Amino acid sequence: MLKISGLTKMFGAYRALNVGNIDIPRAQITGIIGPNGAGKTTLFNTIGGALRPNAGTVLLDGGDVTGLSPHRLAAKGLIRTFQISRDLSALTILENLLVARPGQLGEGVVSALFARRKIRAEEEAAIEQARSLLQRVDLWRLADQSASSLSGGQKKLLEVLRAMMLSPKLILLDEPAAGVAPTMEGVLCDFILELKAEGVTFAIVEHDMEMVKRLCDDIYVLTEGREMMHGTYEQVTTDPRVLNAFLGSMV
Ligand SMILES: Nc1ncnc2c1ncn2[C@@H]1O[C@H](COP(=O)(O)OP(=O)(O)O)[C@@H](O)[C@H]1O
Ligand SMILES: [Mg+2]
Repeated sequence: MLKISGLTKMFGAYRALNVGNIDIPRAQITGIIGPNGAGKTTLFNTIGGALRPNAGTVLLDGGDVTGLSPHRLAAKGLIRTFQISRDLSALTILENLLVARPGQLGEGVVSALFARRKIRAEEEAAIEQARSLLQRVDLWRLADQSASSLSGGQKKLLEVLRAMMLSPKLILLDEPAAGVAPTMEGVLCDFILELKAEGVTFAIVEHDMEMVKRLCDDIYVLTEGREMMHGTYEQVTTDPRVLNAFLGSMV
């Protein structure tokens, strides 16, 4: 689904990212692990349109999407999630989902009457979509509460739901387990696995190796901006190079 090759990102003279080939197959969960500073977030920012790469290509379903803006990538089905920001916390849970949808409201519509009907229909469709997503993770009952009232784990679920409002093909998740209580971690994993079973593709940066073990079909190990190896959880966690580089203390 997503093919990355030769992707390079420089910060001044510092080469934060310099990967060869990374393949993210359809309807699978691909993990990206590595020590702090390995370039994992830079990789996601470069794929997701927040940063422009200095070299390399990103192909989505064979089409070149290198360096496109987050907005254009979202329209093509590639979404990178972000932590629910302070601004979004001020909104209700339902509003968080509604504002995640692209701004079709009234765009390019000339007739005011037609526009009003169209907007009404779009709003109703958006609310319906939001309701069905919130019901799936038992957050519908809290729909009118401020997002700031949610636990860390519920906020992570909300991030995934916001992405799902755009009916994505591929979701990039940066550290889904960070700040999530152990009980909610299971709920979050189950939901991600459910979406995978429905055909959604994921790439996940994660430090929590239990989560990586539960979720990931294939794992890339990044060190110093490069992919050191990739393989199953068993393969990467028994590889001497990976253990030496950073996992020795983690698994
Ligand atoms: N905006 C930036 N400007 C300069 N250096 C950066 C910037 N973002 C990241 N870096 C550097 O690039 C390297 C990779 O960072 P990052 O992608 O955040 O690593 P990771 O997510 O794997 O911990 C680090 O050495 C970091 O200090
Ligand atoms: Mg990071």
